[in-house]
Amino acid sequence: MSTDAGASADSAMIGETGRLVEPMRWWHLDDVARIESEVFLGDPWSVEQFWQELAQPTRRYVVCRDAGAVVGYGGAYLMPPDSDIQTIAVTPSHQGRGIARVMLDRLLGDARAAGCTHTILEVRSDNAAAIALYESRGFARISERRAYYPDGGDAVIMRCRLDGPDRVAQAPA
Ligand SMILES: CC(C)(COP(=O)(O)OP(=O)(O)OC[C@H]1O[C@@H](n2cnc3c(N)ncnc32)[C@H](O)[C@@H]1OP(=O)(O)O)[C@@H](O)C(=O)NCCC(=O)NCCS
Repeated sequence: MSTDAGASADSAMIGETGRLVEPMRWWHLDDVARIESEVFLGDPWSVEQFWQELAQPTRRYVVCRDAGAVVGYGGAYLMPPDSDIQTIAVTPSHQGRGIARVMLDRLLGDARAAGCTHTILEVRSDNAAAIALYESRGFARISERRAYYPDGGDAVIMRCRLDGPDRVAQAPA
């Protein structure tokens, strides 16, 4: 588990919690892959897949660290005017504390700053927690894809406009 507790220039503290949201780096990837395997039981990304994502200039990935340990991560594909939330996850022991909301706001803010006018994503139709998270940040359902996942699960496609005033609400920092 990562123990580097130092904050980089791109780190942002979440309120007074001591938790930091900052760009994902290679030294976070073992922890990221561990969380990935905890929360995406069916088809987790490998460390190598995260390496490949970080190597792409169109990607923005962040982690949340608590007392130095990575407890969550998320990533986006930015190709203005388009953008796409690739993934977001929080380790089970830290869920329900507003961590995903802060990471999502950071990614949406980065997308908006890059000139993206909207963001889309796909989420399993039975993932009520994630759908509620996305709806709380302004995403709306635009379509469904039946049997989209290898196990036959359906996907919901959601979209968030970024080009209106204050479309990306910011969580308290
Ligand atoms: C979805 C996930 C990322 C949410 O992370 P989190 O840090 O627990 O979420 P937050 O605490 O920031 O919650 C933000 C909002 O999301 C919604 N939400 C989060 N967990 C929820 C739950 N279990 N039930 C209903 N709504 C939930 C709520 O609207 C919440 O706002 P509120 O607390 O004001 O009600 C987390 O449950 C997770 O990692 N799940 C497994 C991986 C996954 O499914 N990722 C999404 C793939 S598309």
